[in-house]
Amino acid sequence: MRRFECASPPPVVRVHKLVVRSRRVTYHPGMKARRIYLDNAATSWPKPEAVYEAVDWYQRELGTTTGRGAYREADEAAHRVRSTRERLARLLGVAEPDHIVFTANGTESLNLALHGVLRPGDHVITSVVDHNSVLRPLRFLEEYHGVAVDRVSCGHDGIVDPQTIRRAIRPQTRMIALVHASNVTGALQPIEAVGALAAEHGLMYLVDAAQSLGHLPIDVPRTGAHLFAAPAHKGLLGPSGLGLLYIAPGCEQFVRPLRQGGTGTQSDEDRQPDSLPDKYEPGNLNVPAVLGLGEGVSYLQQLGLEQVQRQGEELTARLIEGFSGIDGVVLYGPRDARRQVGVVSISVAGVDPRVVAAMLDSSRRVQVRAGIHCAPLMHRTLGTTELGGTVRFSTSVFTTVDDIDAAVEAVADIARAMVVA
Ligand SMILES: Cc1ncc(COP(=O)(O)O)c(C=O)c1O
Repeated sequence: MRRFECASPPPVVRVHKLVVRSRRVTYHPGMKARRIYLDNAATSWPKPEAVYEAVDWYQRELGTTTGRGAYREADEAAHRVRSTRERLARLLGVAEPDHIVFTANGTESLNLALHGVLRPGDHVITSVVDHNSVLRPLRFLEEYHGVAVDRVSCGHDGIVDPQTIRRAIRPQTRMIALVHASNVTGALQPIEAVGALAAEHGLMYLVDAAQSLGHLPIDVPRTGAHLFAAPAHKGLLGPSGLGLLYIAPGCEQFVRPLRQGGTGTQSDEDRQPDSLPDKYEPGNLNVPAVLGLGEGVSYLQQLGLEQVQRQGEELTARLIEGFSGIDGVVLYGPRDARRQVGVVSISVAGVDPRVVAAMLDSSRRVQVRAGIHCAPLMHRTLGTTELGGTVRFSTSVFTTVDDIDAAVEAVADIARAMVVA
């Protein structure tokens, strides 16, 4: 039997006198309790109990697809999927559940919006704050499909001034694509002001809400977004493998589907249906993830998004305050909990962020993300590319004050050791 082995031993990273060796993690009962998980901007963990139960219940009891079978379980699955769309519509403040389209993740939602709308000769405006899930499709469209792209800059606080977007508008401009909250600094962008600008100039407006949806109340019609994209697995507390794109009524005529295939509807036609959501949902849906998402949204709605936002702001303020008092720590972004989500980036005494992250995990089981966070232009703007990016802490509704304090203490220990060394 063939065995798969690493060709080389695990990498050893040396910093001053400290040696960090990457190890395989063996899970054992009780370990969960000791994890201080602050990597919720990558994906949220843990999930509400009802999310796990919904996925398990689907797998054991329903086990069927939607829109295909004519039996009780298939009807139940279809009803549950519909009810998740309705909960999402309430969350977004929109009246059309069928205009919420399920995708594989936030990246696919953004690809659908960008590839679906932009054509050769179009011009699109995005920003240096945006994620590679916007920047890379746009780079591809620029290189292979004759789409012109402007990437506007931001201020020192990581926030884009709508006037820089206004100045970039040209006669060929078709779309503005802007992230709501930076996944590096947490900085909230002025999406409503930019929406007004898009409306004034008759431009399609795409908002990437990957780091904001589920963390604060968002009324999509007020933002002016025609296309509103998010994953299910971050702030919405759903399972992996699912994303959503809201397409405002009437805009679907400008959005081509990325894929075509069976929908279980209008099956006598070999042409993709024009009706939503079928136009954009060929193939079997990730039903267990949709059911789990429904429970995640319901959990947030029971807590109340205002309360979730307040709690997030308190934790973020505590992180910012804690890090601000540590010698050798540099904080990036607004450094103001009311102008950012629960995402805080730092560097520690000029040490490679991956080393800091490995030390946080090995010393206190504080789990964070380190590096460029798929936002290369943001790091060039912050001047953190050469440093290897930043160390990023990100909260969820399950983060506690004790988690924050443990993280701050652990960073203080590392900074002390580095400054002394
Ligand atoms: C701002 C932003 N946009 C898009 C994405 C992509 O989402 P997904 O990982 O679900 O594809 C992420 C993921 O981290 C993100 O932070």
